[in-house]
Amino acid sequence: MTNTKRGFSYSKTKSIFIAEYHDGQWDSGRLQNDDHITITAFATALHYGQQAFEGLKAYARRDGGVNLFRFMDNATRLQQSCSRMLMPEVPLDLFRRGVLSAVNDNREFIPPYGYGESLYIRPLVIGLGPILGAMPAKDYLFLVMVSPVGPYFEGGMKPVRMMVTSFDRAAPHGTGKAKVGGNYGSSFFAQKEAREHGCAEAIFLDPATHQYIDEAGAANFFGITKEGKYVAPISSSILDSITQRSLKILAKKKLGLTIEERPIAVSELASFVEAGACGTAATITPIGEVLHEGKVIQIGEPMKVGPISQQLYDLLIGIQLGDIDDEFGWITTI
Ligand SMILES: Cc1ncc(COP(=O)(O)O)c(C=O)c1O
Repeated sequence: MTNTKRGFSYSKTKSIFIAEYHDGQWDSGRLQNDDHITITAFATALHYGQQAFEGLKAYARRDGGVNLFRFMDNATRLQQSCSRMLMPEVPLDLFRRGVLSAVNDNREFIPPYGYGESLYIRPLVIGLGPILGAMPAKDYLFLVMVSPVGPYFEGGMKPVRMMVTSFDRAAPHGTGKAKVGGNYGSSFFAQKEAREHGCAEAIFLDPATHQYIDEAGAANFFGITKEGKYVAPISSSILDSITQRSLKILAKKKLGLTIEERPIAVSELASFVEAGACGTAATITPIGEVLHEGKVIQIGEPMKVGPISQQLYDLLIGIQLGDIDDEFGWITTI
């Protein structure tokens, strides 16, 4: 799974799915062979950030089929994000149709099995207009775009150095739990700062006290203690990661680990024997070192992939690709 050439970037595909919301209802949607849309310059998405999105992947199986991983969990999470932004929820059957249509119509762009690549799927809801005042739109678009991708972090399953940033991505009672653009735009500055310090990504602390680890810019965090416990942060300002949910189940049911969900003090980082960033894009990316207040904290053996992270990675990828039996009912094969 390491001979990938592609990074995590957009390559044009054949079509996108697009559905419209007018007069209080969604239409049934259609495919469009153009990745441009025309909207009013007074769209609420452009001015007030009234939008929400999702990220999931389609994986080529060894037998030529295509697997989607827990994709209706993304549908539910998109509904929660829409509701937080006062946008109409995308009905589950419309989400399902949008994702399946976009994947099926772009099947030729799904990278083949065995290269560590996949088809990234990006559902998006945006508020239209024209509206000048800061208020929710009446009309909306639901789009599903796809692009073949490789690993999010260069090198794939290779430990990276991350930097604890002093910036926040979301406010204590803000939109951190929702997958909305504002959280990402506001984290670019910290991401740039981290890269300038030779780090792959920024780690954000909880915005209320700056004592506890929240998450990375586009991935959740986990740590493994020397007693072999899998520790995941509890915080009201992080995304409820579908990968994290799955890893907790795999760690418990397949590796027999104890799961601890609690605030993780940044001062605890040095005591972990393994740590990682997890997410659809990041899969599992081991965190080998963390730069915090000018000091480098080393986690586990110097820049080595820990055995638990490796086992979790192999289990997760194995299920996603269909090489390991889907005993948890996470896979939809199309
Ligand atoms: C901020 C943030 N946290 C966590 C995640 C991981 O979530 P998931 O595992 O559902 O992809 C993502 C990626 O989608 C993200 O953008």
